[in-house]
Amino acid sequence: MAAVVDEEVDFTRAERILKKFEARGPVTRENLIPLLQELQEAYGYLPPAVLRHVSRETGIPASHIHGVVTFYAQFYLEPHGKHTITFCRGTSCHVRGRKKVLGAVESLLGIEDGETTDDMGFSLETVACLGACALAPVMVVDGKYHGKLTPRQAEQIVRRLVEEERRKES
Ligand code: FES
Repeated sequence: MAAVVDEEVDFTRAERILKKFEARGPVTRENLIPLLQELQEAYGYLPPAVLRHVSRETGIPASHIHGVVTFYAQFYLEPHGKHTITFCRGTSCHVRGRKKVLGAVESLLGIEDGETTDDMGFSLETVACLGACALAPVMVVDGKYHGKLTPRQAEQIVRRLVEEERRKES
C-alpha cells in the first residue's frame, strides 16, 4: 500500500506509532504527550502535517495539540539537529562567562543561538535558566549537564561529539 503523503511528509512512521498506541486503548488528551514524544523521536521534530493527521485520527482538537506542543520546550515544530546544546540566559551564568563559553561553541559549529547546522547534526539554543545556577556557567548537551565550564572545556566537549559523528559517517 502506498504511503499517505501530505506536504511532503511521509505518514508511514506516524501511522505505525499511532497504531501502536491505539492497540493499548484510545489516544486521548491524557496520553498525548508520550505519543508526541515518540513522533518527535521518529521525525526529529513534529511536522505540522503530522500533528494535523494525529488530530484527524484521534479526534483531539488541533488547537489542543498545538497548545501542548508550544507549551513544552522539549517539542520542536521545525527540523531540529540530532544533538541539542542548550545554554541559559540566567544571571549566574551571565556573570560567570556564559557569553564566552557560548561564543566558543558557536564558532566551533559555525552557527549562532537558535540555529541548526546544515547537516542537521547540532542545534544551539538558550533558555531562561537551566536550574543549576551553582554550576554556572552551564551547558547541557542532549540532556547532560556540564558545569563550571571554560570556553576551552565547552569546545572540547562539543568537538568530541562532532568527531564521534564524523567517525560514524566514515
Ligand atoms: S543562571 Fe544558568 S543555570 Fe541558572
